Amino acid sequence: MDLEGKRVALGVTGGIAAYKAAELCRLLVKQGASVRVAMSEAAMRFVTPTTFQALSGNPVFTDRWDAGVANGMAHIDFSREAEVLLIAPATADFLAKVANGIADDLLTTLTLARDCPLLVAPAMNRQMWSNPATQRNIATLTGDAVGILGPASGEQACGEIGEGRMLEPAEIVEDVAAHFQPKRLKGRKLLMTAGPTFEAIDPVRGITNLSSGKMGFAIARAARDAGAEVTLVCGPVALPTPRGVTRIDITSALEMHAQVMPRATAHEVFIGVAAVADYRPSKVSEHKTKKDDNPSPVIELAQNPDILADVAALPQPPLCVGFAAETRNLAEYAEKKRRAKKIPLLVGNLIQDGFGGDTNTWILFDDDGQHALEPASKLTLARRLIARIATLLENPHAPH
Ligand code: PMT
Repeated sequence: MDLEGKRVALGVTGGIAAYKAAELCRLLVKQGASVRVAMSEAAMRFVTPTTFQALSGNPVFTDRWDAGVANGMAHIDFSREAEVLLIAPATADFLAKVANGIADDLLTTLTLARDCPLLVAPAMNRQMWSNPATQRNIATLTGDAVGILGPASGEQACGEIGEGRMLEPAEIVEDVAAHFQPKRLKGRKLLMTAGPTFEAIDPVRGITNLSSGKMGFAIARAARDAGAEVTLVCGPVALPTPRGVTRIDITSALEMHAQVMPRATAHEVFIGVAAVADYRPSKVSEHKTKKDDNPSPVIELAQNPDILADVAALPQPPLCVGFAAETRNLAEYAEKKRRAKKIPLLVGNLIQDGFGGDTNTWILFDDDGQHALEPASKLTLARRLIARIATLLENPHAPH
């Protein structure tokens, strides 16, 4: 769970997106956070405190003058216990007040009195969002180190289309988790591959494998959360791009090679997560192969270039990290690959553990030997790998 043990104070202001804050609260709790909720009066017109009480498992603050708070200072206590204050949705009116230090109700008062970082997820009509007054307030808040999450663009409750929609609850949870990640790769450029490649036989058939791209996308997200500028070259996968990551879609190994090689030296890290096809059909048939023409065709294969080995062989290579997926003899084959490709770090996983699922089991191979990691979610492992890469960038000889 990405927010295990984190204490999140969730403030809900009065916009139609308030109904989505209930799902947000549920997802924060599901990720392991302990959540305390405070609502503005207007928020209670859209959704009731009982909903948030049931979802968070905690009483909900709704009134600055709450007689149930022993010292009568709900606005002070609320954020003192939190590691982050998240306001979602945050209306234009709320943002304007906070930007100007106004504290005239429970939510604005507890925001002004907070003792922890503030994240806001704006939600409003597109004209309200683009209004110079709102943009001025956003600039002020950014200058005050307030984290602005979104907004997104799309269809609005009023029927108009444009920027101002609140991010989806899952995206906000992702941003809250990112907030807690140390920015150890800030300013670093990271290039990586993910997913399978597809090697065409004819216009409709090809050779591919079962890589879903999940491992690579989790690593892209973890690297982004650590502050890196991430470029992800990926084969055909059905996954949304992590926000802020530059994605380059390719189909074949040759296309992946062509996209990676000219970029490699401009990056400090290269991670080859992709399950690249070792071979491609020597000839691609222009037309669909007909079984009547050839009842038992033989497909001649040519070897694909090894992208990771080629990057590692550059005169000034980035820090190269490879992967190996095997069905057996993992330790022997993985270490052999690491040495053959001349890379400092290789992640070994079993095909039965790694392909397709949401969890994985890793053994890391480096000059010090093997390091087995506990089975974990792909995101948790990705964060561990990114931490290890950050250490290696700081000190290439740091022991594991
Ligand atoms: O995508 P998922 O479903 O989440 O699954 C993740 C994964 C199992 C695909 C991933 O964890 C993984 O192990 N990827 C490497 C798969 C593999 O077996 O690669 P390989 O042994 O063929 O290649 C070794 C290394 O060289 C890899 O880093 C690979 O990206 C790279 N390589 C291989 C061949 C080639 N022509 N070019 C390369 O760059």
